Amino acid sequence: ADLTGRNTFGVAARAPWLVEVADAARLPEVFALPQLQGARPLVLGGGSNLLFAGDAPGPVLALTGRGVSIVSDDGERAIVRADAGVEWHALVMDTLGRGFAGLENLALIPGTTGAAPIQNIGAYGVEVGELIHAVEAFEPGTGTMHRLDRDACAFGYRDSVFKHAPDRFVVTAVEFDLLRTPSLTLDYAGLREALATRGIESPTARDVADAVIDIRRSKLPDPAVLGNAGSFFKNPIVPVEQAEALLAEHPTLPVFRAGSPELRKLSAAWLIDRAGWKGQRDGDAGVAPSHALVLVNYGSASGRDLLDLARRIADSVHARFGVRLEPEPRVIGAAW
Ligand code: EPU
Repeated sequence: ADLTGRNTFGVAARAPWLVEVADAARLPEVFALPQLQGARPLVLGGGSNLLFAGDAPGPVLALTGRGVSIVSDDGERAIVRADAGVEWHALVMDTLGRGFAGLENLALIPGTTGAAPIQNIGAYGVEVGELIHAVEAFEPGTGTMHRLDRDACAFGYRDSVFKHAPDRFVVTAVEFDLLRTPSLTLDYAGLREALATRGIESPTARDVADAVIDIRRSKLPDPAVLGNAGSFFKNPIVPVEQAEALLAEHPTLPVFRAGSPELRKLSAAWLIDRAGWKGQRDGDAGVAPSHALVLVNYGSASGRDLLDLARRIADSVHARFGVRLEPEPRVIGAAW
């Protein structure tokens, strides 16, 4: 099967088999298929968080179920359940349309609902793990269905139990804990500015989503127009002493809290920008002119070309600042 149209970088890649499953209850049967014996299949959502540096080594599985249902609603708090195949941004707008707040800061993130918990998608001060009630997942190794509550998912910055054991679980559905009375997160300065610019003093959740959509459109290239997978690197987490030493030398380096007093998170975009990479291009592989953290495919770059560029960027940032960058998307068919 051809996967070129199934990854947002738009790079050429193939898989020996592509299996689409609409009803997650049939996964035990699917995993008994002869084509799926031997190699663990790669589960593909929207293809917006992976780089095919080579072909998929084994079969590829895509869940296409698109059901959304209200599990409970007491007039204030609601549990909303969505199948893995529901497009993420559509779910955000659907829940807001039904009057449930919570997902507004996560508007316009590419990908599917099933992929959201895996890397704990986050933007503008909110991580999806904060809103997740439970994740339903099939474990092919044991043939059992699991329901993991939020704690069992072990969410961290772009991290979860699912990311630690790739392909151990197939996420089949996600339940979200949402509220009718929004509790808005407006920590991100750019978000407050965008709302102020629109003259909005007491925003609704929908106003916040609209502002997020504007910010994303102004900074992040649309994968439908220019192939990319969002941020290519995670913001590096370093010991506080290292952050302070870097800050002494580079006072404009953005430094954030990292969930522990001994650690700080640095802006990878700033490091890459300062190392001179923003807007650079080598053949069809490049760094977005609008955001240093986004690698782009101008047309016919291969996954290898993009991986080579990413390695050169990481090496140059390490040589200049002593900080190692790690890719955010999953790299298939090559070791980082
Ligand atoms: N910056 C530069 N040069 C640039 C871009 C940014 O120096 O070209 C500096 C600026 O100082 C800016 C700072 O970097 O203030 C942070 O930039 P931004 O606010 O765009 O956020 P980010 O840290 O680069 C993260 C997420 C994004 C998410 C935004 C907003 C990661 C790896 N990325 O980016 O998520 O949308 O915050 O919350 O954590 C993604 O994961 O794919 C993604 C796009």
